[in-house]
Amino acid sequence: PTGALADTLARPLRDLRISVTDRCNFRCVYCMPRAVFDKDYPFLPHAALLSFEEIERLARLFVAHGVEKIRLTGGEPLLRKNLEHLIERLATLTTPDGRPLDLTLTTNGSLLERKARALKDAGLTRVTVSLDALDDALFQRMNDAGYSASNVLDGIAAAQAAGLAPLKVNMVVKRGTNDGEILPMARHFKGSGVVLRFIEYMDVGTSNGWNMAEVLPSAEVVARVAEHFPLVPLEAHSAAETAQRWGYADGGGEIGVISSVTRAFCGACTRARLSTEGKLYLCLFASAGHDLRAMLRSGATDADIASAIAHIWQARDDRYSQLRGSAAAQELGAHRVEMSYIGG
Ligand code: GTP
Ligand code: 5AD
Ligand code: SF4
Ligand code: SF4
Repeated sequence: PTGALADTLARPLRDLRISVTDRCNFRCVYCMPRAVFDKDYPFLPHAALLSFEEIERLARLFVAHGVEKIRLTGGEPLLRKNLEHLIERLATLTTPDGRPLDLTLTTNGSLLERKARALKDAGLTRVTVSLDALDDALFQRMNDAGYSASNVLDGIAAAQAAGLAPLKVNMVVKRGTNDGEILPMARHFKGSGVVLRFIEYMDVGTSNGWNMAEVLPSAEVVARVAEHFPLVPLEAHSAAETAQRWGYADGGGEIGVISSVTRAFCGACTRARLSTEGKLYLCLFASAGHDLRAMLRSGATDADIASAIAHIWQARDDRYSQLRGSAAAQELGAHRVEMSYIGG
């Protein structure tokens, strides 16, 4: 098969987000609240995780089906031992017409200073780093694990020095918590080559106590930045892009806003997600996945697995963000998986 796979809403399969661990050294309040993710939380045992061989095998089949971009996620992907060995394997994959993949990962940045060079050498294209505040007291309150903003900034600098570009920084905005950091963050990264993206706080999972009152709509984020630094809208790189892009009018680079709550982008969603234990999820807000690990571990052939992936994708009708608030979404989303499990 080469690339023609489409779901029931005519969306092609182009991106694969692979979670390599459900563990994280942070306890961000909007993702892994400490009260839930405590020492008794049932994280996956090692044997449940897909091995690098298994991940590579699946990735190869997804690429044959049209995937052009692979993002490693977690939990915190850099906690997975020898991750660079997986990256080396994935970096050898090419699209059916011979192009290299866009191979990236989303990290909290705490281990990046130490690992940036090895990641680049293994063949990683770029990285996206999460950072919710520059103010250290606030940042520590948000990650709830004693990590300093300066530690993450050092990771960002190391990644830039290693040539992992373009580097993106994701900031989840919670109204009343860190919205005061919007301008300091914009000011800090303006002109640095880093693309700062503001993410609307989302109702992922069921443990973060999400409520609409804590969502700051992206339109307001853009207005606040534009008041100090005039912005001009930029064209999307592709229809499937999560972020809307804005450029600084003075040429100081760009920012983005990811507005899953106020401006759903399901219409062009080309993303599949592979959980740490090898389940294929068709939406960030799905309640259940399709068990590919069972196939891998019971002697299925590549053709069997490729055909299963095709059937699963062709039956896809997920569009949670678009339905959010409706009765259908209430029902669909009652057992949403956690962000740390599905990998954002
Ligand atoms: P780029 O390729 O660099 O544009 O990355 P990305 O935006 O696809 O991925 P990233 O991991 O940086 O995601 C940024 C934010 O968007 C995170 O909070 C994700 O959870 C969220 N996000 C990514 N994909 C989706 C999606 O398909 N649906 C929703 N609702 N949110 C998404
Ligand atoms: N809402 C929005 N973004 C979230 N992330 C984690 N939980 C949420 C949430 N509830 C972000 C992380 C990271 C990305 C993968 O997802 O901060 O940048
Ligand atoms: Fe860890 Fe990222 Fe979740 Fe924070 S948002 S707890 S860094 S996985
Ligand atoms: Fe894709 Fe689901 Fe996100 Fe919509 S809510 S953009 S379908 S992952």
